[in-house]
Amino acid sequence: KKRVGILTSGGDCPGLNATIRGVAKALYARMGDNVEIVGILNGYHGLITGDYKEMNEDDFRGILTLGGTILGTKRTPFKLMRVVEEDKIDKVAAMKKTYKDAKLDCLLCLGGNGTHKTANLLSQEGLNIIGLPKTIDNDIYGTDVTFGFHTAVDIATDVIDRIHTTAGSHSRVMCIEIMGNKAGWLTLYSGIAGGADIILLPEMPYDIDRVCDAVERRAKKGSNFSIISVAEGAMNEEEAKMKRKEWTAKRAEAGYTTATNRIAAAVQKKTGMETRVCIPGHMQRGGSPSAYDRVLATQFGSYAAKLVEIERYGVTVALLNGHVTANRLEDIAGKTRNVPEGCELLTVARRMGVSLG
Ligand code: F6P
Repeated sequence: KKRVGILTSGGDCPGLNATIRGVAKALYARMGDNVEIVGILNGYHGLITGDYKEMNEDDFRGILTLGGTILGTKRTPFKLMRVVEEDKIDKVAAMKKTYKDAKLDCLLCLGGNGTHKTANLLSQEGLNIIGLPKTIDNDIYGTDVTFGFHTAVDIATDVIDRIHTTAGSHSRVMCIEIMGNKAGWLTLYSGIAGGADIILLPEMPYDIDRVCDAVERRAKKGSNFSIISVAEGAMNEEEAKMKRKEWTAKRAEAGYTTATNRIAAAVQKKTGMETRVCIPGHMQRGGSPSAYDRVLATQFGSYAAKLVEIERYGVTVALLNGHVTANRLEDIAGKTRNVPEGCELLTVARRMGVSLG
């Protein structure tokens, strides 16, 4: 019998349960009684503390459409541990012990960049690991898309649509803050889908004067409102020269954590137009996955089951040019996929007269 562990780590997103179900259903279909699934609770935290449970086919029924994760999740265990190397060594030892105690033959880790870093570490420690790429940020290296991303795009687009009507009614400039601290994929896609007038990404430092000029140009041409889509991690040119830590501290000192409020205040002051801020926040990560994400989750999950069966470990599932495949963990861990300068959607935005700050 093969014992397969499964965990979800990092920020949750729509499609986690659909992927868990994809793995489980395909495993039971392919291996029948020759497989046992063990759910590790609350991500690597459960692996450290030995918190896991035996699962059966019933546990995976009715979860295709369910948001969140039935296994619970926590952020990466090493975030605060970088300074205390000994603690990190202890934690790795604890994780290896749980893997052994639970008699696992392999462990599937569903998560984003932090999760993949730890997955790679455990793989290098000799555990049989398979990753699955989850995040609304779409920033995992080596895959064209991650599950959760397209649902978040749909939600953020719906927000922008709704903001349009109220912006028009009140002749206001609306600044909408979209999730994405390091990568701007979600802001770019939803901004294009929702017809935002100005799109500000972490990858492209903005100049507040250019932003105000864009609002004023629209007003001169007869548009009584403007929509500014701001990524959580958008930076101005001065901040772009600083280290992340430095600008985070500077922002905290000035009384704000993201650029959105400051941009709204500056636009109101300079253009004289009334402005408002909308922060949909964690709504972008909640609820049922879209049809696209259910399909992707099922493709990814069933592919991971095949990898378990053929015992191909040390890899993570990916979609490349429309085909599901696997990348070696060591090739993708520690890397981020940002919106590149040559991204076609940026060209589309520019062609459409969208200001990129
Ligand atoms: O990684 C997904 C994400 O939603 C980011 O876009 C955002 O910056 C972060 O997680 C928020 O994290 P938390 O849920 O821990 O506040």
